[in-house]
Amino acid sequence: MTAITLRRHLTDAGHDSDLIFLLEDIASACRSTAYEVRNGPLKGNLGVADSINVQGEDQKPLDIIANDIFVSTCANSPRLAALVSEEIEEVVWLKEPKKGDYMLFFDPLDGSSNLDTNLSVGTIFSIMQIEEDGNRNVLRRGADQLVAGYALYGPATMMVLAAGRGVQGFTLHQGTGIFRLTQPSMSIPETTNEFAINTARRRFWDQPIRDYVDDCLAGTEGPRGKDFNMRWVASMVAEVHRVLMRGGVFLYPLDDKNRAAGGRLRLLYEVAPMAKIIEAAGGAASTGTERILDLVPTEPHQRVATILGSREEVALLEQMHRKPAEA
Ligand code: AHG
Ligand code: MN
Ligand code: MN
Repeated sequence: MTAITLRRHLTDAGHDSDLIFLLEDIASACRSTAYEVRNGPLKGNLGVADSINVQGEDQKPLDIIANDIFVSTCANSPRLAALVSEEIEEVVWLKEPKKGDYMLFFDPLDGSSNLDTNLSVGTIFSIMQIEEDGNRNVLRRGADQLVAGYALYGPATMMVLAAGRGVQGFTLHQGTGIFRLTQPSMSIPETTNEFAINTARRRFWDQPIRDYVDDCLAGTEGPRGKDFNMRWVASMVAEVHRVLMRGGVFLYPLDDKNRAAGGRLRLLYEVAPMAKIIEAAGGAASTGTERILDLVPTEPHQRVATILGSREEVALLEQMHRKPAEA
């Protein structure tokens, strides 16, 4: 297959050369992470590490390895001013920030509870630019993202990018290590009959989420008038990739168990990048009441209610969230 390379695609798209270098560093970090993930059982890197992260979660050895790979690979970029990682409590400043310098937000390994069972995991990342010389504000709206992307370590290693126009998917060629464009102009079908939510949390859900899922489960006899299918991989990258490839809706809502924490998934390096990708592919991303990309974060590790996917489903869920207030 002679699909064009990631470098060729980025060059043709007319991106700044510093941004291309940074994206190539990110691609290298993803390649190294894929290698470590695939060799995890052989290197004794499964199970939990003897540490917890800023979120109070047990770290896996590969969470730490992937984080170290991203820090050491990307920190060489001359215009990268700051790193915000799920695995690092404080913002890492690499240089005195100058207007136009880059900030990299990332979840080095998403879905890492899947490692021990040899299921798909991924990396999520986002790039923003410093607004003014000396400005150290990392709490920026998702709409300000210059690039959002993820790598999926599944049967094939893929990198999906929203940089400039549209969403493009690249597959890592094992052997040469080159990412090639295999999914140009990805777009989400508007209509779907597939949803993804952790239904074990049903008893903690708010009414709009219960009503939505109940309506889906009622199938042809219910108000939706059609049968639905359900999927839950417990790896957001894999879920979002499925939604991009064949439509669907992914939900991790606020519920009675996670409300105090603000939700489950983190805004800056998990949900906002996915929201940018989903919107760029013609879908929608919402908390149920607000567009994700309009939210102004109040702290780097903030969590947020998440609903994203096919436009019609997200619109319906927003309508169901408005209902109680209207009544
Ligand atoms: P992480 O591994 O970075 O902590 O994130 C895991 C996230 C996300 O990928 C997934 O959708 C969700 O957690 C799974 O949650 P459940 O454990 O409730 O299934
Ligand atoms: Mn994650
Ligand atoms: Mn993670």
